[in-house]
Amino acid sequence: MISLGIESTAHTFGVGIADQKGRILANRKSVYATKHGGMIPAKVSEHHLESFEGVLSDAVNDAGISLADVDVIAYSKGPGIGHTLRIGSALARSLSLLLKKPIVGVNHCIAHLEIGRALTPCKDPVFLYVSGANTQIIAFEEARYRIFGETLDIGVGNFIDAFAREAGLGFPGGPEVEKLAKKSSGKYVELPYVVKGMDFSFGGILTQLKKMLKEHSVEDLCFSLQETAFAMLLEASERAMAHTGKKELLLGGGVACNKRLQEMSKAMCFERGAKCFILENQFNADNGAMIAWLGLLEARKRNFEKIDKTSILPYWRTDEVQP
Ligand code: ATP
Ligand code: FE2
Repeated sequence: MISLGIESTAHTFGVGIADQKGRILANRKSVYATKHGGMIPAKVSEHHLESFEGVLSDAVNDAGISLADVDVIAYSKGPGIGHTLRIGSALARSLSLLLKKPIVGVNHCIAHLEIGRALTPCKDPVFLYVSGANTQIIAFEEARYRIFGETLDIGVGNFIDAFAREAGLGFPGGPEVEKLAKKSSGKYVELPYVVKGMDFSFGGILTQLKKMLKEHSVEDLCFSLQETAFAMLLEASERAMAHTGKKELLLGGGVACNKRLQEMSKAMCFERGAKCFILENQFNADNGAMIAWLGLLEARKRNFEKIDKTSILPYWRTDEVQP
């Protein structure tokens, strides 16, 4: 069985192709970026409309198949930006009708997790999911993916991006902040540290960082931002591991590309005798391959949608997904 997955929850338009053995035959994407300023939904939609044809044909070429070989069409149903989700779901419907193949909409957050289970040896991890809009600690307990901790305001990626925008570093801000943090003298600037139980929040740190832009070097602020935010995320993840008794930590989402977060995660796992699993960057950031793979898992259960019942769910929560 071959699955073609379409990702369009936010800034990335991606097409991935996977087979039932968990082999990724293609993973193509085009990512909206700016030099200054953030992400405007209408502009991102324009970007996706302009890039979908090229991304789709490149993916099919990489896989060495023809569209007629595809057995199931999967798309990101949510959560995400309504404007961009509509583009992916419309393309999925067109392909399903054209190729006369079944269609299935999948949860983007679970796709991040399942691609981690497919491409690493981890079996039953605590999943630290850190992307732009989402920041959640997820684990499978009592027959469902449950959220053990999450951000009370903005996602850690959006927090980093908002700081980067203020500092004139462009979008996405994460890679730039990581680079500048490395150039820091290692001077730690005191920032609020906000963990409440298993949850955390970033709004207060953002306000504080913006105020400090004139007083400190941007390098030292980037360094302090990373040290503080990542320590918060790992404190809550460690608590989730202790609570569930799970011995594996899996990282996922765009922020998981950050080498400092990876290093801190490995150190935490080492200290508790647990294993840390990290994906290649192309599977951490939004991608079509993870949508294709989750589509395949759904297809095995024959969880298809009727084409006239397909829809998007911009606010779909991980713990609402029926296993
Ligand atoms: P979701 O819809 O799951 O919220 P997303 O649209 O935010 O996903 P992702 O590709 O998962 O997309 O994550 C993008 C985020 O990752 C951006 O906020 C970006 O700044 C951040 N990011 C990317 N690389 C790094 C890095 N090296 N360090 C820190 N953050 C990074
Ligand atoms: Fe994502």
